[in-house]
Amino acid sequence: MRILNIGSLNLDKVYDVAEFVTAGKTILAENFASYCGGKGLNQSIALAKAGARVFHAGAIGPDGMALKEKLEKSGVDVSLIRTSEIPTGHAIIQVNAQGQNSIIVYGGANRTITQGDIDCALESFGSGDLLLLQNETSNTAYAMQAAKKKGMLVAFNASPVTPEMMDYPLSLVDYFLINETEGQVLSGTQSTADEDILDAMARRYDAAIVFTVGSRGAYYQKGNDRFYCRACEVPVVDTTAAGDTFCGYFLAGIAQGISAQQALSCAGAAGGLAVSKKGASDSIPEKGEVLGAEQLLRQSAAVRERE
Ligand code: RIB
Repeated sequence: MRILNIGSLNLDKVYDVAEFVTAGKTILAENFASYCGGKGLNQSIALAKAGARVFHAGAIGPDGMALKEKLEKSGVDVSLIRTSEIPTGHAIIQVNAQGQNSIIVYGGANRTITQGDIDCALESFGSGDLLLLQNETSNTAYAMQAAKKKGMLVAFNASPVTPEMMDYPLSLVDYFLINETEGQVLSGTQSTADEDILDAMARRYDAAIVFTVGSRGAYYQKGNDRFYCRACEVPVVDTTAAGDTFCGYFLAGIAQGISAQQALSCAGAAGGLAVSKKGASDSIPEKGEVLGAEQLLRQSAAVRERE
């Protein structure tokens, strides 16, 4: 299965702060660094590192060549990335002392993707291929419809949540990749309990639900199957792109034909490793590291079971 990711490409400006800035305050950052990022780019790199055949379609401005080069070096096909007059999208990311982040995304070129660009990107894809989307690019609803017309599977990482997202043709989605907030919005439940969110998602959609719950781990839900995978216990350095890493490793597993349960466990290990490193795409682990961490996760689960 080939994966086409019509996804965002951002220049990440990352500020280490003791605490997130609040209304009316000015704070000093302790450190600053720039990284290649964007949910789309991070997910394409994770897919490629996990061994999937991935094609990235998207748009950068004249200032975004480093993003295309980063993807290419990671083994992603970049022939469907267009350069626009509009500057590349960027993200202002605060990372606090606990490694949590707070992100503002400016769409820039990511929001110039037209229906024509989507038709062009989809041209050589069809049944047996998968389209991956996040919610940072333009014409997402159109992309879902166009991919389905071609018989493709559709995976949607519903991030960031926007008001218009609920008007997308969400019944066309085959895989939802969501966190708690996204799950609440998509399912319409007020409950914050994991099981309630999953139940509400399963009532509303026929799709497979891949549900990450931060340091508590992740769930997979489809029909009568519901699996849970514990998170790795790692020092939290920076959570940026952990969800993207999880998403890429999970879908790569599915594309390679492993079971959803195995893919979940591999994605959990990958996400855990990403949390223990700084940066967005720079924190995405290689497959060898992930397989090692997954084995440790399995061993510690077995020890716990014996205790
Ligand atoms: O998920 C992390 C990503 O979100 C960052 O790389 C940033 O660019 C935003 O898209």
